[in-house]
Order: sequence, then C-alpha cells, then structure tokens
Amino acid sequence: MKVTVSLIKADIGGWPGHSTVHPALKERAKELLEKAKKKETIIDYYVTGCGDDLQLLMTHTKGEDSEVIHKLAWDVFYDATKIAKELKLYGAGQDLLKDAFSGNLKGMGPGFAEMEIEERKSEPIIAFMMDKTEPGAFNLPLFRTFADPFNTAGLVIDPSMHNGFVFEVWDIMKHKKVELKTPEKLYDLLALIGAKSRYVIKRIYPAPGSKNDGKGPAAVVSTEKLYQIAGEYVGKDDPVALVRAQSGFPALGEVLEPWAFPHLVSGWMRGSHNGPIMPVAERNAKPTRFDGPPRVMALGFQLAEGKLIGPVDLFDDPAFDETRRKAAEIAEYMRRHGPFEPHRLPMEEMEYTTLPDVMKKLRRKFKKL
Ligand code: 13P
Ligand code: 13P
Ligand code: MG
Ligand code: MG
Repeated sequence: MKVTVSLIKADIGGWPGHSTVHPALKERAKELLEKAKKKETIIDYYVTGCGDDLQLLMTHTKGEDSEVIHKLAWDVFYDATKIAKELKLYGAGQDLLKDAFSGNLKGMGPGFAEMEIEERKSEPIIAFMMDKTEPGAFNLPLFRTFADPFNTAGLVIDPSMHNGFVFEVWDIMKHKKVELKTPEKLYDLLALIGAKSRYVIKRIYPAPGSKNDGKGPAAVVSTEKLYQIAGEYVGKDDPVALVRAQSGFPALGEVLEPWAFPHLVSGWMRGSHNGPIMPVAERNAKPTRFDGPPRVMALGFQLAEGKLIGPVDLFDDPAFDETRRKAAEIAEYMRRHGPFEPHRLPMEEMEYTTLPDVMKKLRRKFKKL
C-alpha cells in the first residue's frame, strides 16, 4: 500500500515569548484534524508542539505536495492563529507569511517534510522535530546514520544496506540540488554538508538495486528558509524530518545513536547563536535558557495501513541523560562568550537578523584610515 506521511509545522505564536505552544492551539488543531479524519481526507494524525512550533503529523494517500493536504494544514494554522491572537501569544501568526493559501505551502511560511512510501510488511518511522535551529542541523546526524560505519553497524554487516545510500543535497542559496551516493562519494558529500547553513540534506534514498529501492525515500528533511521568503528575519527555520528504520534501512537504534552527541547548531537566541542541540522528551521540548539551548525530540511510530501506531517518546530515556548533561555544559561554555563569535554567528549569517540596522547607524561614524 502506498502511503504519504506529511509532517507540517508552523510557529503561530509562542507561550510565553518563543518557548512553547499553548494547549488551546493544539486542541484546535486536533479538532480540525479529527474532522478531516472522519471525512477520510487523512488516514490518521498526531498533533504536538516542539518549542513554539505547532506540529501536524498526518498520513494520507494523496501523495507529496497535495493541494488538499497543504490547504488542510494551512487552514489549521490559520484557524489556530485566531486563538493565538485572542490570547495575545507572542508573534501570533509569525510563520503565516501570506494572507491566503495558493495551491502549495512552498514559500508560504510553514515547514514540511513529506514522503510517499510503499508501506513495508513492518514500517517503523521516526518523526524528528527541532526548535531554535535550522535545517542544516540534521546534516551531521543523518550523515552518521546513513553513511558512517562507526555509527551504523548495518552498513558493514547487513547485506541489504551494504550498497549504501543516495543523498540529495540542496544548495539553498543557489536553489540547486545534487545527488551523491555513499560510500563512493563520501568525501564530496562531506565537503558540501559540512557547510550546513548552505548545503542541506533534503532526502536520502536506498542505493539502486538494494532491498528497499523503489519503495520511497529513507529520510526527508524540511528545508524552507524563512528569511528568503519574507526578506527579513522572522524567526529561524525550525526544521523537522522523517526517517524510516529497519529491514534495509538503519535499525531504530542506529537512527538514534548520532543524537548521543550534542553537536553545535546555529539558531538559539534571536536565531543568531551557535549552541549544542539537546535531545529531549516531548514534555521537555521547551527552550528556556537564553531561549534554548536548541532542542530536538524524536517520536517513534509503526505504520499500519497508514495508521500511526504510537508515539513512543524516544529521547525520554535515561540513556540520553549524559548527552543532556553534556549539552548543558557546552551551553554554559558557549554562553560565556557573550556577543563574541563563534558563539554569535559570523557577520554573513547575521545579515538576516536585526544587526544590519545597528550597523547602518554605525557605518556613518566611520572615518577613512
Ligand atoms: P531483536 O533480536 O531484539 O529483534 O533485535 C535485532 C536487532 O537487530 C537490534 O538492533
Ligand atoms: P523561533 O524561531 O523559535 O520563533 O525563535 C525566535 C527567537 O528569536 C528566539 O530567541
Ligand atoms: Mg517563535
Ligand atoms: Mg520555533
């Protein structure tokens, strides 16, 4: 059976500041998606929040980029924004950059990761959601899961994965894409995705001829760049991703393993700082310190004819306590730099923040040397 999994998110108002999603917004989203389920527009859904981003996970049979599904998500965000405005939540409607829906969510503000797949005999799927960072934050952990044999034992010992994977990488500045197959193009891939603010992993496919070839992607990441759409800073592009596991794909534990390392990502306070990503339980996806540190949560499901059997809150596990402690320690270390790089982002990346307005005034005061 062909199923499409759509994870669509938007920040339509924070409670308080940029920290969480108010329960009333989630309730409204659930009501509307329950209606859509009764009408059989969607098969199933799960609503949650990650930081200040409202998350709609849906399954259906309408394929990727479906106007019906995108409009449904847009209508949910639009409707819930009315509540956000009543409650005067912070930045109510922040990610709804256009006044009316026009066919597709692309360029409209909300972020989305979608995959149409052939549902296998057993289909474990993990929904990753992040707050206070950007799509490139997925580069390192996804590389490790799908291409690093020191992370993923299956790349070495499982014949169904031994041929590797194909990475679709987007240049989000030039709007171009390239496909690179690992392990052959491993170094080329790293040359690109190490520059995580520009080159981002969009999709990962099983290698041609391997067990899951033709059954859809193994992973997909949302890559919307809000500032390019809005022309000004309107919050970071807090990303989401969907990853499939087992039986020709990495085992669940191989998908989770890279997150034991709290790597540095950009975002955090005012979308302007580097800091560690902290893997947390759903209930702890609540940035506080300096509006952070950036968070990631992972919800596991089994698909059954499109039904979402779950979630299992995968980072709600003492096995990740040390990672969280390490992330807190790194956060402390980074914070001591105050406004200095590399805690604060380099000048080029500050271009889309409020810093240029300060620079404009300063520039007039400069004298020739
Ligand atoms: P089980 O023997 O518990 O099914 O686990 C198999 C496996 O591959 C774990 O990574
Ligand atoms: P969000 O992108 O999550 O809205 O955060 C914006 C911000 O400025 C945090 O300090
Ligand atoms: Mg916000
Ligand atoms: Mg956010």
